[in-house]
Amino acid sequence: MPFTDRHVVLGVSGGIACYKSCTLARRLTEAGATVDVALTAAAAEFVRPLTFEALTGRPVLTSLWERGRALAHIDLAKHPDLIIVAPATANILARCAMGMADDLLTALLLARADRPVLAAPAMNDAMYANPATTANLTALAQRGWQFIGPEIGALAEGPSERPGRMSEPEAIFAAAERLLGHGTTSKWSGKRVVVTAGPTREHLDPVRVITNPSSGRMGYALAEAARARGAEVVLVTGPTELAPPTGLHTTQVETTEDMQRALQDLIPNADALIMSAAPADYRPKHQADTKRPRSAGALTVELEATPDILGSLKRRKGMVVVGFALETGNGLANARSKMQNKALDFVILNDATEPGAGFEVTTNRVTILGRNGTQVDLPLLPKRDVAERILDVVEEAL
Ligand code: CTP
Repeated sequence: MPFTDRHVVLGVSGGIACYKSCTLARRLTEAGATVDVALTAAAAEFVRPLTFEALTGRPVLTSLWERGRALAHIDLAKHPDLIIVAPATANILARCAMGMADDLLTALLLARADRPVLAAPAMNDAMYANPATTANLTALAQRGWQFIGPEIGALAEGPSERPGRMSEPEAIFAAAERLLGHGTTSKWSGKRVVVTAGPTREHLDPVRVITNPSSGRMGYALAEAARARGAEVVLVTGPTELAPPTGLHTTQVETTEDMQRALQDLIPNADALIMSAAPADYRPKHQADTKRPRSAGALTVELEATPDILGSLKRRKGMVVVGFALETGNGLANARSKMQNKALDFVILNDATEPGAGFEVTTNRVTILGRNGTQVDLPLLPKRDVAERILDVVEEAL
């Protein structure tokens, strides 16, 4: 069993997603882990300690001040192989970012800063978008915390288009498994990974652009997943509505040529390049300095091709290069010829005409083709799960 002889502390802070932590506690226990649950006072309002005791077969810790168990957190903190905080509310993230130790869970996290921490943020979407939360997440990521989620989806107060919902227990379990499995020997630790995301934009004049509907979600999910595996990640992104992920460096670009320039600077030091961006392939041959009035009548624009970024980059020897092929027919053949022409190690094929795949959606259905003839057909999955499967393949090639 993957977690045999592993000691996991599951810290549960007070959000409605607590109910999912019960499933996570059970899943970890079934996988062979010794699971000590530390509940904050607010979490104990949502789920009674008895529930976790029954699921883990171990006493649950709720307070620094329990009689007969003074300083229990220090005992607990001696050996954990991993500390999971799920849900991690905005409040506990803020307290940990400040280095506070005013209850058992925060004391434990402060006392054992050398242990790997995996946190699954869960909160109202506006709280997650608040710059205070972003700053706290960044501070914790800089101290080595790993994060999974939050996801977009229904919140306690109703549906939401923005992240806030805690990742599912199975996804947190998988992330924990990866962290424990890799530990400090992660194939990704110390590896520099460059990920591109989103569309690029080419100006016709100061107010009009040529672009495409890429949301950037696939690239952002890849960047976050690579960071969670321990890589040093730089995300080069065109204009998107997504918040910059925490714990990695984000470079914003606008045009295809800007993206090419940013990559030229980054590639000499990179171990892997994942080109999930959808750079604009054409730009106006002449760009007007002033807005062309509509009253001037019909407009004919001559377009020229933008640089082929993948085709133009001088690559570091041994760098793993992944390209994407968004097709609308004859996918396999086109993807294979892109792999050949662009000298890719892998090409990720997706079909823009398929429901749930491609641009502007939170799911994707892809086929991963390898240079050595491998082909992995994945089912329709959330983009974060697709990202993990892509990284599994890249990992073997690193
Ligand atoms: N790409 C690139 N530079 C461009 C356009 C695309 O490096 N100017 C990258 C994409 O990020 C992707 C891969 O090339 O990883 C394939 O992109 P795609 O748009 O499918 O292919 P194109 O090269 O544009 O070829 P075609 O338009 O003929 O399908």
